[in-house]
Amino acid sequence: MAACNSSSICSSIRSPERIRHIHRPLSLISSSNVCLLRRDAISVSAGRIVACFASKDRALPRIAAGSAPAMVPAQQEAEARVSTVVEVGLGDRSYPIYIGSGLLDVPDLLQRHVAGKRVLVVTNTSIAPLYLERVVEALTNGNSNISVDSVILPDGEKYKNMETMMQVFDKAIKSRMDRRCTFVALGGGVIGDLCGFAAATYVRGVNFIQIPTTLMAQVDSSVGGKTGINHPLAKNMIGAFYQPQCVLIDTDTLNTLPDRELASGIAEIVKYGLIRDADFFEWQEKNMHALLARDPNALAYAIKRSCENKAEVVSLDEKESGLRATLNLGHTFGHAIEAGFGYGQWLHGEAVAAGMVMAVEMSYRLGWIDGTIVERVLNILNQAKLPTSPPEMMTVELFKAAMAVDKKVADGVLRLILLKGPIGGCVFTADFDQKALDDTLLAFCRR
Ligand SMILES: NC(=O)c1ccc[n+]([C@@H]2O[C@H](COP(=O)([O-])OP(=O)(O)OC[C@H]3O[C@@H](n4cnc5c(N)ncnc54)[C@H](O)[C@@H]3O)[C@@H](O)[C@H]2O)c1
Ligand SMILES: [Zn+2]
Repeated sequence: MAACNSSSICSSIRSPERIRHIHRPLSLISSSNVCLLRRDAISVSAGRIVACFASKDRALPRIAAGSAPAMVPAQQEAEARVSTVVEVGLGDRSYPIYIGSGLLDVPDLLQRHVAGKRVLVVTNTSIAPLYLERVVEALTNGNSNISVDSVILPDGEKYKNMETMMQVFDKAIKSRMDRRCTFVALGGGVIGDLCGFAAATYVRGVNFIQIPTTLMAQVDSSVGGKTGINHPLAKNMIGAFYQPQCVLIDTDTLNTLPDRELASGIAEIVKYGLIRDADFFEWQEKNMHALLARDPNALAYAIKRSCENKAEVVSLDEKESGLRATLNLGHTFGHAIEAGFGYGQWLHGEAVAAGMVMAVEMSYRLGWIDGTIVERVLNILNQAKLPTSPPEMMTVELFKAAMAVDKKVADGVLRLILLKGPIGGCVFTADFDQKALDDTLLAFCRR
């Protein structure tokens, strides 16, 4: 795929859907444990491309432009179906996120990212009957060279473990998949994380494509290369950073997603607004009803904007030395809820929603934000019908026990993502008054 290589904003594309070229020195974000990260504060100057996107009515002008190689008709047709491409800028491991309606029926988009002739599609018992056939068709249509195998795993977070991953390896080895094969994750975050980790480790790493089918996976888990499985004692504890070749988001797959799963994904969308994108947060306040009603344009916009935010963060801090940790707003409290309440009782986004309220409340207790922000966060999550407090069984002790083993603990010190200043500003820090944390836990727990 051709990429823009000019060093300024492409003013030929209509605002606000402009192609952006964004550069921010890493030193700004990793020199201390505090980083203010408002998206609108990003300096735009010469540098490598972090995010690239195009408006729907001007499908991919950057591909057609200038010195880009001439495309064959199948490629052109494929580009025309894509309404947005967000580029994750990671040097020679950069990759596109294609976002659009009906993309599962565009063979060229997938086939251009398949290396070799063998593909293993990894999916689960719920998604296979809905989408597997179409994905196999897209992978093989017009290309008899490609042979596709699939492995259909049991559905659920509790199967995101070593035993289930072994089923993927069993299938790959029995099918004699070699180094040049491609693993395709077709499903939500559980399948994406597990399949990605399998791809990272099978014969020390094979090609990997993400086809996320939940809102959670489309706005968050499929982007950025965090892959892994759970250990019985801790969630997502075993894994690898491993980037896909591409992410293909067919927004139509959301039509079959249950309402509760949709709302779970909305929690992560709200998160992007709070940590770095005040305009996006305001847009959400005005358009939450449209998102819940599954308005295709509203969903496509929210997915695009979320992917842009995540792509920017990942390209600046792939391995989470500072900036990337801010994507975990509410997650320290949320993971404690998931572990304390039992995995699968609440969906990830539900736990994160309650966790964000706790982080926001703590920020307020510290005097770092004003009360109107607390109100706005409660309002938007209530609108989305997401929980705004932890389940009643959660105790201060349960929170503290889970927080002690949080991945953001460094040298025994807990670091949290907290809001500071206007919406869009946040810090990742261990430098907070412990009393504010204790008071917050007491305020949300019965004992
Ligand atoms: N890697 C990351 O950066 C990252 C980020 C956020 C979350 N995660 C992980 O993602 C997981 C949660 O992901 P999730 O919320 O997608 O859960 P999930 O993968 O369990 O999917 C939720 C449910 O929806 C079903 N489903 C999926 N797509 C469907 C569709 N189109 N129609 C009907 N049903 C469909 C699934 O079979 C499942 O039952 C957690 O394990 C979490 O740790 C990872
Ligand atoms: Zn999350």
